[in-house]
Amino acid sequence: MKQILVLHGPNLNMLGVREPGVYGNVSMDGINRRLDAAAEGLDVALEYFQSNHEGALIDRIHAAYGTKDGILINPGAFTHYSYAIRDALAAVALPVAEVHLSNIHKRETFRHTSVTAPVCVGQISGFGAYSYELGLLALVHYLKENG
Ligand code: DQA
Repeated sequence: MKQILVLHGPNLNMLGVREPGVYGNVSMDGINRRLDAAAEGLDVALEYFQSNHEGALIDRIHAAYGTKDGILINPGAFTHYSYAIRDALAAVALPVAEVHLSNIHKRETFRHTSVTAPVCVGQISGFGAYSYELGLLALVHYLKENG
C-alpha cells in the first residue's frame, strides 16, 4: 500500500471560516474526510499534517524521506515565496502534487508565481475542495505509472 503525506500550510486550519467566497465552506477536517473517502479502493494510506510554521512543514517533509511514497501539499501562501519548502521538497525527491482551492492565476499578481511547483509533478488549482481529490487521484496515478 502506497503511503501519502497530506500537508496543509498556513491558515488552512481556518478553512470554512476564512474568506468563504474565495475558499468555500468546507473545513480542513472536511477536506481530509473527503480524501479518506476518495482513498478507499485506491490502495493508499493517508497521513495528515497542518502547520502555520515553515520549519514544522519542512521537518515533516524531511520525515517523509524513506517513509512515504508521495506528498500532496497545499503550501498556502508559502507557495509564493518559500524557497526553503521548495528545497525541502527537492531534497526528499518524492513525487509531489501541489493543490490550491482557488485559481491562483486569476488572483493578485503575487499569487501567480509558485516557487514550489517546479519541484512538483504537477499543480491543480481552482476547483475548491475538489482540487485535493483531483490531486490525490493524479498522484496515485503517477505512482502507479512510475513504480
Ligand atoms: C491557497 C492560495 C494561496 O495564495 C493562499 O495564500 C492560501 C490558499 C489556495 O488553496 O487557494 O493560503 O493555497
